[in-house]
Amino acid sequence: MGFVGLTTAAIFAKRGMRVYGVDNDLTKLHMIKRSKLPFFEPGLQPLVRSAMASGMFIPTEDLHKAIKESSIVFICVGTPMKQDGSVDFQYLEQVSINLGKEIESSDRFIVICVKSTVPPGTSEKIVLGNIEKTSGKKCNKDFGIAMTPEFLREGSAVSDSDNPHLIVIGSNNNKTAKIVKDLFVSIYGSKSNILQTNIVSAELIKYANNSFLATKISFINTIANICNNIPGADVDVIAKAIGTDPRIGPQFLAAGPGYGGSCFPKDIAGFIHYCDDIGYDPILLKATDKVNKGQVNIIMDILTKKLGSLEGKAITILGTAFKKNTDDIRESVSIKLIFQLIALGANVKVHDPLALNNTRLALSDKVKYASSLESALKDSECIILMTDWDEYKSIDRHLFQKDTKKCMLLDTRRLLVSADMQGIDYVALGRPIEINDG
Ligand code: UGA
Repeated sequence: MGFVGLTTAAIFAKRGMRVYGVDNDLTKLHMIKRSKLPFFEPGLQPLVRSAMASGMFIPTEDLHKAIKESSIVFICVGTPMKQDGSVDFQYLEQVSINLGKEIESSDRFIVICVKSTVPPGTSEKIVLGNIEKTSGKKCNKDFGIAMTPEFLREGSAVSDSDNPHLIVIGSNNNKTAKIVKDLFVSIYGSKSNILQTNIVSAELIKYANNSFLATKISFINTIANICNNIPGADVDVIAKAIGTDPRIGPQFLAAGPGYGGSCFPKDIAGFIHYCDDIGYDPILLKATDKVNKGQVNIIMDILTKKLGSLEGKAITILGTAFKKNTDDIRESVSIKLIFQLIALGANVKVHDPLALNNTRLALSDKVKYASSLESALKDSECIILMTDWDEYKSIDRHLFQKDTKKCMLLDTRRLLVSADMQGIDYVALGRPIEINDG
């Protein structure tokens, strides 16, 4: 019942399916049962509430009952990143073993769809393998396996899930593929864009999709880093121009502090690890990852060149969420930056419209927390805008209420390029950055 599982459950229920939402985290389940979400996602809470009220969505810890009542199961557990970049399969292993135990006593043909993002081969090796081993039953005869990757984004999960641009059904068996296709057609209609393929290609589609988007971001960040050094250059003009070429497209060309979140960093790392394992050196993916990890150093470099020593400097961070419209700080570049600032002795104050609770869990008393923009900006010597929250677009109004003489503002997302920044040393990633030596 994470982002993918809960959103999928609520949308499927809204569209007429009876859905059991199973999780072994009882605290999370009890919250959901009380229509409280364990995370923030725009529009999801009312959807969950009405899906429960209609009786179509049933959150439960009772896997046995859920499987007994279901004909199709979606596995939506996390596949986090291990220290070495490889994928941690522990949740997938556990859930497959538990499903195997349930399937052992079942005499119906049940289909298991893997929605979790996994490297090629995983659905068969870990899910199919564990189910066959634990249940003593045979895949394609007693149960089916499919891989149905998910493309929803945090912050717009509800509309992404309600209007998927593509539904991928990966299966190595016609009967299984038909059952899954019939389900999606009855949920989204016969005109929905469905692509049927085998399991391994479905797994690869997801990795390729995320890798391409991440590469697009690292590409435009590379152009932005070049622009930092060229008088008159502006990355947004360049992005706008190249985005009109239909072969490139305008999306995912917003340069910034680098991509974060629970997906791109771990999926690129997992894909690289997988490629190395099969004996192929994925130099492009490694470059994408390297550019992304380097963005925080570009920011640190600008700060130290502009401000000199950061020891004792009052620095305000605007935004700790990895992007706007979420309270998620996983792999947020902002948090990585804050750790580097603290290590150099800066006094850091943070502000975020939604993510302060999660930020406290990560940073405890290492930083100060500002509950309003006014208190965030007060007495700051350097403001770093990290997250693209809409409310930061009008920050200039707050700025002019304070004594701004000595203040520098580093806008990593260029939210304020057209604002009147008189009196402030305004610098933006992707625009020329002047360093006054001495
Ligand atoms: C991403 C994909 O967009 C989804 O399609 C996919 O389903 C999901 O991962 C997943 O695999 O579960 P998400 O991580 O929620 O979704 O958010 P994105 O909107 O893709 O943003 C990821 C990061 O890239 C953020 O830090 C964002 O600020 C950054 N980004 C995005 C940019 O720096 N520039 C852009 O132009 C776009």
